[in-house]
Amino acid sequence: MHHPVHTFATNAELSQELAGRIAADLAAALAQRKRAILAVSGGSTPRPLFEALSLQQLQWSRVIVTQVDERWVEDDHVDSNARLIKQYLLQNRAAAAEFLGMKTPDSSPFTAEAAVSAKLAPCAEVIDVVVLGMGDDGHTASFFPGAATLARALDPVGTELCVAVRPPSAPHDRMTLSLATLLRARHAYLHIVGAAKQAVLNRACGPGEIAQLPIRALLRSEAPALEIYYANGN
Ligand code: 6PG
Repeated sequence: MHHPVHTFATNAELSQELAGRIAADLAAALAQRKRAILAVSGGSTPRPLFEALSLQQLQWSRVIVTQVDERWVEDDHVDSNARLIKQYLLQNRAAAAEFLGMKTPDSSPFTAEAAVSAKLAPCAEVIDVVVLGMGDDGHTASFFPGAATLARALDPVGTELCVAVRPPSAPHDRMTLSLATLLRARHAYLHIVGAAKQAVLNRACGPGEIAQLPIRALLRSEAPALEIYYANGN
């Protein structure tokens, strides 16, 4: 695999290191431009990363935090990624950041693609830092194997900022940034914990269809320069 892999004993150690790395990327972006953009995933893995990031010294008031993907539930729902981000990332020093969430009042993400693209317009050009997770089925962002809109989401030269997805085997319809949007990021980090995910990653590095293990779409791409942060356990 041509992507650098950084290995840690625990997610806590990994999170300290990765938080410093992301803060440095964002600071470098702020030295060049007025605003820096950070897009983060949800799920259970990034919680300690969010906590560590929230304490980083940075001009957070110039940072836009947005989402890689969102489950289409109310903002206070236990499965809402926005809720997780607000609770664990947008606190301490990072409370000064601007949050651009994906969720709109639309009842379905399938009727909200245009509205979410408008809301996330600052992200249309280049996102400075993207933090990705990965599921045991090889999905990253909300690129779920077997989803009807997977090919559209995975079009590397697609013009859509985001795509609605119905996962065949996970709860909630979702909105996800498209692969084309992710590929324009300046820095991308894949954050995974545990031997089961390492095994999936190893399989994904082998031959096979992208649609079977969609993380392959990023692993097989040269841009962005994806780096893998892996911890053996929590
Ligand atoms: C989501 C995510 C998703 C996540 C993986 C890993 O909303 O579900 O953004 O892509 O990164 O499913 O989730 P865990 O960290 O919970 O294993």
